Amino acid sequence: MASKHRVSAVKILAEESRYLVKTYRRPPVVFTRGRGVHLYDAAGREYLDFIGGIAVNALGYAHPRMVRVIRREAGRATHVSNLFHNPYQGPLAHKLAVWSGLDRVFFSNSGSEAIEGALKLARAYAHAQAAPHETPKTRILALENSFHGRTMGALSITHAAKYREPFTPLVPGAEFVRFNDVADLDLKFDQTVCAIVIEPIQGEGGVVPVSEEFWERARRLTEDHDAALVADEIQSGLGRTGRKFAYQKFTSLPDIVTVAKPLAGGLPLGAFISSEKFASAFTPGMHGSTFGGGPLVCAAALEFLAVVDEADLLANVRARGAQLREGLERLAAQFDFIREVRGEGLIIGVDLAIEGAPFVHEALRLGLLINCTHDHILRLLPPFILRAKDVTEFLGKFQKVLARGARPAKAAAPANPQPLALAATR
Ligand SMILES: Cc1ncc(COP(=O)(O)O)c(C=O)c1O
Repeated sequence: MASKHRVSAVKILAEESRYLVKTYRRPPVVFTRGRGVHLYDAAGREYLDFIGGIAVNALGYAHPRMVRVIRREAGRATHVSNLFHNPYQGPLAHKLAVWSGLDRVFFSNSGSEAIEGALKLARAYAHAQAAPHETPKTRILALENSFHGRTMGALSITHAAKYREPFTPLVPGAEFVRFNDVADLDLKFDQTVCAIVIEPIQGEGGVVPVSEEFWERARRLTEDHDAALVADEIQSGLGRTGRKFAYQKFTSLPDIVTVAKPLAGGLPLGAFISSEKFASAFTPGMHGSTFGGGPLVCAAALEFLAVVDEADLLANVRARGAQLREGLERLAAQFDFIREVRGEGLIIGVDLAIEGAPFVHEALRLGLLINCTHDHILRLLPPFILRAKDVTEFLGKFQKVLARGARPAKAAAPANPQPLALAATR
């Protein structure tokens, strides 16, 4: 059985190498199924997944309630055109409005598309407000170190040159504010700005939180200049921090929030959620999507949100996040190339003084999936259904990874790291 699967894995790798556009650098592993927090490769080997589809698989793999709803809807109608109503968009929009504290929802297929919609909405609002003789405000501010997606609009407000430069010219009017720098924000914000887009916790940027001072200043400036405060919660939202949205630790609400990743439990669905004031700038025909908000994905999203509520997963995210942070702090005391452990709930960054890639490779070898961003920040995005024993399993494996993955020439790891006292978390 296993050898048959191995043969097919070789064929899959060969076909990909021959026929796929070369956009991904993948290790030679083919994952064929998952259950809970574990994935299994074509040879049947088990991996503990602490990437979680880069924040998508919040309920892990093959969650029984998701499987039931997806099967049910697959037998009914997977797609119904947005020319017509389906049973699930209304209830899902209602729930997202309640969760976010905002009013109206537009459904897309991905995070980037949710961002595109939010940018269009902010521009449409500015156009609608401009007097006939006036030039509408069009500038859009974003933060340095941001990541908002790969489509042209989203790319225009994504900071890293490596993502942007091969595709210039991008959408005009985008500018970057220095991260958490209120003076720079004050300098760049004026009556020509129609929106500022902020990740309350930058994910791809290395799990870095926006300060309360910066957020509240952005809120104040957007109010003063009738511009939109857009929270990109595609990675940080829908429970990942232990709150429904990361911005809920601040006093002020945004005008628009974008979501995607975990929303439909692994199926592609994104959305922007807007206050009534901004939402009213879109009238029929101004924006749309063929697939966005189909019945299958919306039913799955309703089920995902119901599971988060009914299983009290936000409390679990907080508890497991605290357990994980505590264990990681102990490791940081042991391996002095760990500069900082940061994050909230189950979005955690382990900032290294050395290159992160060898640790990711070593983790894979030991049956553990982790991610590295910005060359030296190991990022953990495990599912919300994590159990105490999964955290214990992770910490045990991660300790080995740190001990073996560090390059002797650069790393200051002890030759024989002391075993962790993990029994308490079992
Ligand atoms: C904060 C943030 N915004 C936008 C995106 C883009 O989402 P998608 O890849 O679904 O287009 C991502 C993806 O990683 C993200 O983390």
